[in-house]
Amino acid sequence: MVAIPVTISPAPSRPAHPAPDGGIGDPLIDTHGRVHRDLRISLTDRCSLRCTYCMPEQGNEWLARTSILTLDEIERVARIAAADGVSTFRLTGGEPLLRRDLPEVVERLAALRGPDGPVQIAMTTNGIGLRAALPALIEAGLSRLNISLDTLRRERFHDLTRRDRLDDVLDGIDAAAASGLRPLKINAVAMRGVNDDEMVDLVAFALAHDAQLRFIEQMPLDAGHTWDRQRMVTRDEILAALAQRWHLTPVPGRGGAPAERFLLDGGPASVGVIASVTAPFCGACDRLRLTADGQLRNCLFSTTEYDLLPVLRGPAPGDDAIDRMLRSCVHGKLPGHAINDPSFLQPARGMNAIGG
Ligand code: 5AD
Ligand code: SF4
Repeated sequence: MVAIPVTISPAPSRPAHPAPDGGIGDPLIDTHGRVHRDLRISLTDRCSLRCTYCMPEQGNEWLARTSILTLDEIERVARIAAADGVSTFRLTGGEPLLRRDLPEVVERLAALRGPDGPVQIAMTTNGIGLRAALPALIEAGLSRLNISLDTLRRERFHDLTRRDRLDDVLDGIDAAAASGLRPLKINAVAMRGVNDDEMVDLVAFALAHDAQLRFIEQMPLDAGHTWDRQRMVTRDEILAALAQRWHLTPVPGRGGAPAERFLLDGGPASVGVIASVTAPFCGACDRLRLTADGQLRNCLFSTTEYDLLPVLRGPAPGDDAIDRMLRSCVHGKLPGHAINDPSFLQPARGMNAIGG
């Protein structure tokens, strides 16, 4: 069967490439030589917060429950991806903790092995409800956590997330800090006039929790399409603010990691900056995404999706068909995103439905 990409808004023109070759067990290499080892799996588009840069306050159109991948479907895709060399699975949302069978998802995925041995399971969460969920997740085999926190001030948190839940998030971070999961990362989206006076405080907070703060440049991924370049705090501005307090030394050897790391006062503590807009790192990207409703994506910013649902739910589909869809998705990956190009088209979905 030939995998048919589903275009959800006008797709950028792309060069013609020969059809992807290879089969189950072969690495997922794109036409630019990038080997894909990281699959981000969104478990739900629902969330306990409404961060302004991600979701509208109201009127969000939720994915139909019947289209949400089941535990068995997720495991099946992940098993084939692992055989093809994917070694890290990152669970995202929306908010993955809202998924009731999360411990089972972690347990099933953590049991997978790839050509290089057991896989790693990481999760990105807003931290709400994490304390109660954590023991079962660790028992199930979770290896790493990223927790999102953009401000330490209660009113700001409410303005930013439209929910009064800062204490719940801080409680989740305390629980993560007390657990053995390391490295623990805290993600903050830097926003002008919103939290750009808190950068030093956020890093100090992370250090006090034995965590690494990572600042993310705001990206045009909000469901309301309100992204404004002027409100985005750039990598250089973030570094200038931090340099007022710490001496920053770049850490070499970034590999495919989205964050550039800097030692604070010579280390060992460090801070990360994810400069997706002003210093894109597409050349080393090893990531694929699977949305909660079974769409494979080769880039956060792609306007093309590869629909696995008919493959997973069709008559006697077979693992080869899933593998071919993975290969088609990888094969169609463009060399980089075009956020900085005047012709850039924001994806139709918001971040909560794509998965961070
Ligand atoms: N720009 C940058 N980061 C974002 N995130 C969500 N939406 C955006 C955006 N528009 C972050 C969240 C979380 C991670 C999954 O992505 O804060 O840390
Ligand atoms: Fe929820 Fe994350 Fe989106 Fe905030 S950014 S609304 S925590 S999915």
